[in-house]
Amino acid sequence: MKTLNITNMPEIPFDVQEAVNQLRINLGFTGESIKVIMVTSSTPNEGKSFVAMQLWKNFANVGSKVVLIDADIRNSEMRDRYGFEAQGGLMGIEHYLSGKMGVNDALYSTNIRNGYLVPVSTNVIDPTTLLESSRFEQLIKGCRDQFDTVIVDTPPLASVADALNIAKYCDGSLLVVASNATPRKVINEVMGSLKRTEKPLLGIVLNRADTSRKSFGYGYYYRYGSYGNYGQYGK
Ligand SMILES: Nc1ncnc2c1ncn2[C@@H]1O[C@H](COP(=O)(O)OP(=O)(O)OP(=O)(O)O)[C@@H](O)[C@H]1O
Ligand SMILES: [Mg+2]
Repeated sequence: MKTLNITNMPEIPFDVQEAVNQLRINLGFTGESIKVIMVTSSTPNEGKSFVAMQLWKNFANVGSKVVLIDADIRNSEMRDRYGFEAQGGLMGIEHYLSGKMGVNDALYSTNIRNGYLVPVSTNVIDPTTLLESSRFEQLIKGCRDQFDTVIVDTPPLASVADALNIAKYCDGSLLVVASNATPRKVINEVMGSLKRTEKPLLGIVLNRADTSRKSFGYGYYYRYGSYGNYGQYGK
């Protein structure tokens, strides 16, 4: 297996780390059958990739062998944001899905112990057929067998159908909602779509919540963009 170096992993404030920790613990209560978790949102920019990455790191830190599959093949920003570096150049999920290489060439171990990645190396304008191919199903199946936890980062639901296709192969989803930004109507519509996938909504992550008023002195975190409550519902 090839190795990928994450050269720019940002340090997050303690209260955000703690919220992610709680999220991971709560997910543990959803049962042993929940292993492949899709992270999605209604609209762009609500924090899916941020939550997926931090959750991945948190699982890895507690010794869970975890893989993060970047399935936002249209619009992935992870490689630049986190500074992915791989010897011999980065090859991604799109190479595997289009049949150019085997699954083990798209799967990287990383400098985060227990943390593995299937990155996107070049964005693809229309990946729908790639995501509907049996190769995607095989990728999830292979990861399910090899890892304790599989996290799948996806595009927003209200824009394209990709996430609904991806949901078929996952055990449940986490819906990231940007606090004070996403209209309730949009959230309800998206929850309706998720319900039709017949996979449980494992929880809603209220992201960028202003927790600064909760306790004196935490105003700094508001500027950073705090990560707020986690409400669990469904199965
Ligand atoms: N809780 C948070 N605290 C700090 N920064 C955050 C938080 N949530 C998101 N961000 C930042 O906001 C920006 C957008 O977040 P992110 O890329 O995770 O959203 P996304 O939902 O994955 O977007 P897209 O729909 O484009 O995939 C990023 O720069 C990310 O680091
Ligand atoms: Mg994203």
